[in-house]
Amino acid sequence: MTTKAVEFAQENEGRFVEELKALLRIPSVSTAPEHAGDVRKAAEFVAAELTRIGMENVRLIETATAERPGGHPLVYADWLKLPGAPTVLCYGHYDVQPAEPLDEWKSPPFEPTERDGNIYARGAVDDKGQMWMHVKALESLFAAGAGKLPVNVRVTVEGEEEVGGEGIAAFVREHGEQLKADVALVSDTEMFAPDLPTLCVGLRGMIYTEIEARGARTDLHSGMYGGAAPNPFVALSQVIAQLKDADGKILIPGFYDKVAVPTDAELKAWRALPFDEEHYRETEVGSVSLTGEPGYSVLERTWARPTVDVHGMPGGFIGAGAKTVIPAKAVAKVSMRLVPDMTPAESFAQYKAYVESLCPKGIVLEVRLIHSGDPIVVSTDNIYVKAATDAMHAVFGKETVFVRGGGSIPIVGDFVRELKIPTVLMGFGLPDDNLHAPNEKFHLANFYRGIESIIGFLIGVGA
Ligand code: BES
Ligand code: MN
Ligand code: MN
Repeated sequence: MTTKAVEFAQENEGRFVEELKALLRIPSVSTAPEHAGDVRKAAEFVAAELTRIGMENVRLIETATAERPGGHPLVYADWLKLPGAPTVLCYGHYDVQPAEPLDEWKSPPFEPTERDGNIYARGAVDDKGQMWMHVKALESLFAAGAGKLPVNVRVTVEGEEEVGGEGIAAFVREHGEQLKADVALVSDTEMFAPDLPTLCVGLRGMIYTEIEARGARTDLHSGMYGGAAPNPFVALSQVIAQLKDADGKILIPGFYDKVAVPTDAELKAWRALPFDEEHYRETEVGSVSLTGEPGYSVLERTWARPTVDVHGMPGGFIGAGAKTVIPAKAVAKVSMRLVPDMTPAESFAQYKAYVESLCPKGIVLEVRLIHSGDPIVVSTDNIYVKAATDAMHAVFGKETVFVRGGGSIPIVGDFVRELKIPTVLMGFGLPDDNLHAPNEKFHLANFYRGIESIIGFLIGVGA
């Protein structure tokens, strides 16, 4: 059965995509101070559309404080005109990751381009496109309901997810009652495979850190001083080399103590998923082989085991050609993904103590926490999950698979802990959508199916 709202969505698909392109043209890179104005522009764009479609109390909630002057605004809206009916809290983020390296993009990251049924742009799937599905589902429901929704709705769209989401976390802690709802709907995850409706039921947490190594007072000529002066890059390499062994086992003392083993039922369900390790290696990763802990499948390694990664080592000489210098300082950006029941505070303390214990001679190390978020698993035993699987069944004609995600969405933990509401992670990205990488895309068929699924979900929760 096609509802009136779905008909409206289908008739307006072309316009929805054009609007999304306008949003994608705004380079709302939350980590880059020079883009703060663009981040705000994106917030205003989303707020204006929420107003236009009929949402109420639309406003930007400022998150900048004296301690965090760079905080980006949270977009809020609601429509709460059905006393007694449940309330759905729709969440998404309008900020994006940096687009670099730019020369790897086939079309410029902030000039959205359609190719082969996909829309290519930074933020296409993570998360502007998916957040837009929520807005367009609401618009379609308003149109079909002559200005009424089938359920109460609050919308929060944040501009700091990609930098740790501290602003929204503080808002949830301090003003949780303003987000009072029965269930949160988050569309910021992936489908396990094309055409396979998927609910994500767990996310890894993370701690993002910097290690700064200082050696000499100032940069030095490496011929004159090499051999006597400490080198911060060599020191960082020595430290980093001791974070994991050759098998990928993390060497931080105590790090695995709280790791919860997935249930037998979960492990069995994961083994039944259509996963081809060789295909994954070849098409998604593209390396000569995969790495990681022996004895764990790739899905266990990326969903249920912690890991350590190094993202960059700023400092020293990185220009073309050669410069013979011993840099005075170097930095390593190092993050760890956490799994239930690890906690960011304890894991960071273990890591910091271990790194400090490894400090090479002549070097002073500083270990800084940049941001952190808790790992979570959400329950599947509730009527909202049923509403979601029913809605996706109507659109995809298939049973939903339940997966975890290796990525992190820090606010989900706060929804579960602070608001004490179930969260439905219904995402429509694909494994090869290039999140955080050059040539990010969103498969347009999934944009449309996502809108239809969300319409069905909101109708289902209201019924
Ligand atoms: N949407 C992703 C998280 C994600 C991706 C979850 C794929 C499940 C599957 C989110 O925007 C993201 O990238 N989060 C960051 C969070 C961090 C900066 C705190 C991440 O995971 O690196
Ligand atoms: Mn995201
Ligand atoms: Mn992301």
